[in-house]
This record gives sequence, structure tokens and C-alpha cells, in this order.
Amino acid sequence: MKHDHQQPSSEKKLWGGRFSQPMAQFTEEFGASVGYDQRLYRYDIIGSIAHCRMLARQGIIHDVECDMIVSGLENIMLEINSGEFEFQVSLEDVHMNIEKRLIDLIGPVGGKLHTGRSRNDQVALDSRLFLRDAVKEILQRLQQLQTALLEQAEEHRETVMPGYTHLQTAQPVLLAHHLLAYFEMFDRDAQRFDEILSRVNILPLGAGALAGTTFNIDRHWVAQELGFDGVSRNSLDTVSDRDAFIEICSAASLVMMHLSRLSEEFILWSSSEFQFVHLSDGYCTGSSIMPQKRNPDMSELVRGKTGRVYGNLMALLTVMKGLPLAYNKDMQEDKEPLFDTIDTVVGSLRIYAEMIRTATFNHQRMAQAAGAGFSTATDLADYLVRGGLPFRQAHEVVGKMVAHCEREKTDLPDLTLEQMQRFSDVIKEDIFDYITVEKSVAARNSYGGTSHQQVEQQLSAIRQRPEFTPGRSD
Ligand code: ARG
Repeated sequence: MKHDHQQPSSEKKLWGGRFSQPMAQFTEEFGASVGYDQRLYRYDIIGSIAHCRMLARQGIIHDVECDMIVSGLENIMLEINSGEFEFQVSLEDVHMNIEKRLIDLIGPVGGKLHTGRSRNDQVALDSRLFLRDAVKEILQRLQQLQTALLEQAEEHRETVMPGYTHLQTAQPVLLAHHLLAYFEMFDRDAQRFDEILSRVNILPLGAGALAGTTFNIDRHWVAQELGFDGVSRNSLDTVSDRDAFIEICSAASLVMMHLSRLSEEFILWSSSEFQFVHLSDGYCTGSSIMPQKRNPDMSELVRGKTGRVYGNLMALLTVMKGLPLAYNKDMQEDKEPLFDTIDTVVGSLRIYAEMIRTATFNHQRMAQAAGAGFSTATDLADYLVRGGLPFRQAHEVVGKMVAHCEREKTDLPDLTLEQMQRFSDVIKEDIFDYITVEKSVAARNSYGGTSHQQVEQQLSAIRQRPEFTPGRSD
């Protein structure tokens, strides 16, 4: 077996006081999070500036020291923004990289920044600041997607299509109704994120390493400064809680599940067998060998990416399940699944809003399919019930009529009145008013049903909500 003789690290650690041997290089790399948590730099600096100002207000550090630290941090922000800053693995994470640079820039006074705080509450703060923005972005993207669905629904308030159960033709519905079903799903997703935001937006800083701090800090001032709605109540809970991250992955999993179902429908609907929808070129790809192909790649990818978001949720739940209070290094493993989830859900929503907006639905094909498959059989049964037959009996009669049509290779509305009356004398000539697709749709006028009237009501109720008022594009 090969032994790895590891090179010792050259970097002196900020926490190195009690250590006599350097850390081996690979161990250092293995333990470092800076490769991915550097993404938090902006939040780390904003949080540090607020912390530092609070320390000065409380007389814990001098105002001049505060000014030096703040301007040092502002310089570091510029360095990182411009790409000059070099993150070092030997400094482990984003927090240590910034703190070390601060000390290099302004001297030992930089070391006062960490007074009264720990990386444990610092990382909790940075993550929450990041997530607050991330959730707001998800909410905006959801709204864009909902707007696209809404606009297509308005465009297709007359388009009929087959409604399915078991992917077998069931009853005709309006395409608008089908699209608004997705609108509702994304509406609940948005509600979930809104609610999560209220739990994310609580200040963790000031919990210290785990037990609070001996300094006379003012957490409420910091909360106000950073726009938090509240201050966490228990320091142990604060540094070891990752519920909010898990909630986000869970809500994101539901968004992806909804997108994945929509993807499945678009993949089917864009096939040459269905031809219900034409996705614009920008979202399809060709085949390198089969010239006729137009593959709905983006839908397939989003369906596929759903798997990784579910995986991220499981990863976080599993990381957390056996941890004693309070912080444990295991928790550094929270970031990659979290970042990946945010990127995946934001990207998928972004693709979908545009893909829906630019999709063309084939209303002729849909209407044709809506009339096939004996889709108005239930309407015929309901007619018999209104004529006095118990529903079960009506079901039986129509079943026989369908079987007859299948044998004769014809359709229900194509039977003559006499042919129909052979199955039941309840049937009168007004039957033909009930078994067309248009009539079938219009008749489903119960609240929440697919009738034009119900769908119009839903459309106008949505348009009355401020975020969906016409003319607002955000
Ligand atoms: N990089 C660490 C993380 O993401 C920061 C917190 C480290 N705290 C500690 N006590 N080692 O979890």
C-alpha cells in the first residue's frame, strides 16, 4: 500500500497558539471549505462591518480602531470584487481568509474584529444573509413563471384539450385550466418560501461559540443594522440549527417536483404522437445523427435535476441527524448541497418562465384529441341521471354504448337518436346538446371546475392580486 507522505503546511494558523506541529497539506485541503464558501464573502464582510460598528458603539473597541477595521474590510471587498484577492486553502475558509487579509492590511488592530464573536455564529450569520437574498430571488423567479403561465392561460381561455387520469382520456378541459393548475402549485411554493423567509430572517450573531459572550454586545442593534426581523433566543440552538437550510431544500424539492411534472407533460406534448406544443428552438436540440429530431432537452434536464435537489435534501437531513449540541465540523457539509439547491432551482425556474412564454400550443390538435377517446361519456351518464336513472345504472348503459361504438368503429356523438334509444329510452333529441366537447366543458361549472365561467373567474381573481396586475413585469 502506498503511503502518502504529506507535505507540512507553511501557513501559521490564526488559531495556532496551542499547536506545536503544522497540519499536513492534504489534511488541510480536506478540511478546507474556502473552495465553495468564498461565495459568502460579501455577506461575511457586511456582517463584520455591522459587528465592528456595534463593538465601537458599545465602547468595546475605540472609534479609530473601528474606522480602520471598516475601511480595511471595504478594501478587501473591492479586492475580491475585482478578482485580485487570492483565497488560500491553508486559511481554511472564507472567514479566516478575510480576517487574515485584514490583519495584513491594517496590522494587529485587525485582530480586534473577532472580539465577542466566533466563527460559529459568524458562519450562521453569513449563511442567513445569503439565504435571505437567495429566497428573494426564488420568489421573483416563481412570480415570473406564474406570470408566463397566466399569460398563456389568458391566450388559451377557449382552447380545449383532453383531461387525463392514468394518462387515459378522461374528460375535456380548457388548456387555461390545465395551465392554471400549475399556477396554483407554484403559488403554494411561493407561500412556503415566504414563510421560510420569516424564519431565515433572524439574527444569529452574538451567540458566540455556543454560550453567548462576556462582552456587553448589542445584538438588537446589529439586527436592525442588517435588516433582520428578530434576534435568536438561545445561543446553543443558534449555532447548531440548520432547520432553515433544510426547509429551503424541502421547499425547493417541491418546486422541482412541480417543474418535473410539467417537464414530463411538455416532453409528451411535444412528441410527434401528441403534437400539442411546439417549444421554441432555444430550448430544444437536434441529434447528431437523426436530422429530423428536436429534443426537448431543457425539460428533460429539469426533470433530471430534480433528483439532485432531492439528494441535497437527504444529504442535509442526514448530516444533521446525529449531531450533539452545539457546532460540529460536520456542519461545514451544509454549504455545497445548499448552494447547489439554490442554483438549480433558480436556474430551472428561469429556463421555465421563458420556455412557457415562448411555447406555441397547437389548439387544433388539442381540440381534435379532446373529442376522441369517448371523452364525453361522463356527460352522457350525467344526462341519464338527470332523466331519473341511478348513477350506477347510467354508468352501465354508457359503458355498453361505448363498447358498441368501439365495435362499430364510431363515436358517441355520431350515433343516431334511434341507435342511442336502443340503450335507454331516457335519451331524447336534446342529448346532442350535452355530448359535444364544448358543452361538456361549459357544463363543468362547479366552483373550481373547468367551465369557461369558472376559469374566467380564476383569471380575473389572479389579475386583481397586486403582483399579477397587468402592466407589471416584475
Ligand atoms: N468553515 C466552517 C463551517 O462552514 C466555519 C465554522 C467553523 N467553526 C469551527 N469551530 N471550526 O462550518
